[in-house]
Amino acid sequence: MSIKKVFIGNDHAGKDLKELIISYLKDNYSDIEVINLGTDSYESCDYPDYAKSVSLKVLENEDSIGVLICGTGIGMSIAANKIPGIRAALCYNSTAAKFARLHNNANVLCLGQRMIGIELAKDIIDTFIKTEFEKGRHLQRVNKIEYINKNDTQNINLKNLEEKSSEKSFKNLC
Ligand code: RB5
Repeated sequence: MSIKKVFIGNDHAGKDLKELIISYLKDNYSDIEVINLGTDSYESCDYPDYAKSVSLKVLENEDSIGVLICGTGIGMSIAANKIPGIRAALCYNSTAAKFARLHNNANVLCLGQRMIGIELAKDIIDTFIKTEFEKGRHLQRVNKIEYINKNDTQNINLKNLEEKSSEKSFKNLC
């Protein structure tokens, strides 16, 4: 797949890196459209909102990937991976980016502005854009991820789990 669109999202802690990455993509990938869905403010906001909006766009646009940036990249990756069909990979180096595409067919790249600098971010993005999914034995594994989403979790008593997890979060807050 040759990538035609990059949807980029960020919270307040990812704003600066987002701006640098947008300029880099515009200067170096003239055939790729870059769409900014992140905040352009330093005012504190919630990363799951951006993880969701970017992920939905990636699912709607076949030839696209997402780039999500927060302080660590961790929150964005946890949130994006809740959405069926999204395979978000948090990458702190270009080897991880290479295998995220080759083996996992990742469609969203997560980056942490507080973790890496722009030069490393450029390497990671270049690798992520240029590497194609290897398919073969990896295809059935990636398909099994979707199977977990669609089938396996239907047997879990989600309501029960939700109650347990909010009880736990409440206890942690006390
Ligand atoms: C915001 O302070 C920070 O928690 C957020 O950007 C991100 O790092 C979460 O994973």
